[in-house]
Amino acid sequence: MKFRLILRQIYTMRFDILTVLPELIESPLNHSIMKRAKDKGLLEVYLHNLRDFAVGKHRQVDDYQFGGGAGMVMKPEPIAACIEQLQQERTYDAIIYTSPDGVRLDQELCNRLSMLDNVLVLCGHYKGVDERIRETYITLEISIGDYVLSGGELAAAVIVDSVGRLIPGVLNDETSALFDSFQDDLLAPPVYTRPAEWEGKSVPDVLLSGHEKMIEDWRHEQSLERTRVRRPDLYEKYVHGDHDKINSVENLR
Ligand code: ADE
Repeated sequence: MKFRLILRQIYTMRFDILTVLPELIESPLNHSIMKRAKDKGLLEVYLHNLRDFAVGKHRQVDDYQFGGGAGMVMKPEPIAACIEQLQQERTYDAIIYTSPDGVRLDQELCNRLSMLDNVLVLCGHYKGVDERIRETYITLEISIGDYVLSGGELAAAVIVDSVGRLIPGVLNDETSALFDSFQDDLLAPPVYTRPAEWEGKSVPDVLLSGHEKMIEDWRHEQSLERTRVRRPDLYEKYVHGDHDKINSVENLR
């Protein structure tokens, strides 16, 4: 079954992103689908420069780590000041910290996040944030993969993009997100466009047949086979999974 997303009411989803490098996030969220989502008023993304919340002549946002060791740590005060100011205006459904230590972002987590209204994302930088910030404010830590980025900004952009496109109304044909790779624990089938014959290679006949049921069956078989070969872990999950399960948002709040 493909219909695992419950549609949320149609109104704006808001992301507040706290960072020391807002420039790193701006560009990916100002083009294509994300730009359209913002233009349609379905997605709002606010970038907050933590330096604006730092005090002192140098507006310092990082400092040496206690106990020694290479690398700087993000100071707690500017982060706390920014979060508390934002919390005076609204309640956040999730306060996310981007970090390689977090839970791995996958399609199911994106689906669940897309049902929230207000999400705050704190981008880790340098050696990370002072642990007390994690203990005090963070409700969810997310990693986008088992590798280390120079900072959490690109991870935040990935989260906003992968979640934002799931907000109803963002994609032209709303069902298209339902048929993305991973949406049913399966990879997407191969796709073709014109010309039907290219460099001696033809498009599979079934796709030219106009027979909807046969095309649907072919795509499903291709998805299954591609997943079995390329991602045996996902294939096992699909074979043994509960495909009628509705993703729950409850444990994110
Ligand atoms: N910051 C550095 N590496 C990261 C990762 N893999 N995911 C999320 N945030 C990160």
